[in-house]
Amino acid sequence: MKIIAHRGYSGLYPENTMLSFQKAVEAGCDEIELDVQLTKDNVLVIIHDESIKRTTDGEGLVRKYTFAELQKFNAAELQKKEFDFLPIPSFEEYLAWVKTTNVTTNIELKNSKFYYTNLEKKVIDLLTSYEMLDKVMFSSFNHLSMAKCKQLAPEVPCGILTEREIGNAGYYAKSNGMECYHPDITKLTTTVVNNCKKHGILVNAWTVNDMGHLKKLYDWGLSGAITNYPDVCKAFIEKIEG
Ligand code: G3P
Ligand code: MG
Repeated sequence: MKIIAHRGYSGLYPENTMLSFQKAVEAGCDEIELDVQLTKDNVLVIIHDESIKRTTDGEGLVRKYTFAELQKFNAAELQKKEFDFLPIPSFEEYLAWVKTTNVTTNIELKNSKFYYTNLEKKVIDLLTSYEMLDKVMFSSFNHLSMAKCKQLAPEVPCGILTEREIGNAGYYAKSNGMECYHPDITKLTTTVVNNCKKHGILVNAWTVNDMGHLKKLYDWGLSGAITNYPDVCKAFIEKIEG
């Protein structure tokens, strides 16, 4: 089972920063999950919320700032006070770094509240220029955006993210050309797991910080666990497997 670091090693380090990604690799994760959005001047940046208020010392919408303006805000202080200044990373900075590691990336396109025009194409173009299309997957709560990614880069696996249970999830994902289903662990049932298996859809659940949840996923034979604590999950799985 893949251990996927949610926003990097976000349990101990400021989420979606280069530090949290580096620490996730050191913690032995198989994959990093991160969230991408676009700035006012069309630079791909890694940040979860549409506003910078929760995770930085600034406020306002990501899309209202240029990349240069965003760089002045600290993504460390409000989240975890013990760290020095950490900027919001560009997706390009991330790619240049992750290319030197052996982890894959689950790129979540954050385009449900605001639809960023051509977000899909910009992400795919950058991945193409870094020759990284075979090292990533896409996911989004915006399923139309996933359909668009599939159209532009059919070889890259895509995942349906959902907060609510979709009863016929496997069929829904398969019939929309998707490879994966990414449910909230607290709402996942065996019915859904079996439906996904029947249709050959891989399931990666979030956010798996509780070892009871992780054991359940392991017993169900799921593809991956998206967690804030990658080393804890890795150690737990290694213990089960002896
Ligand atoms: O990819 C799983 C997870 O990241 C989805 O929720 O809100 O943390 O992006 P969120
Ligand atoms: Mg996410």
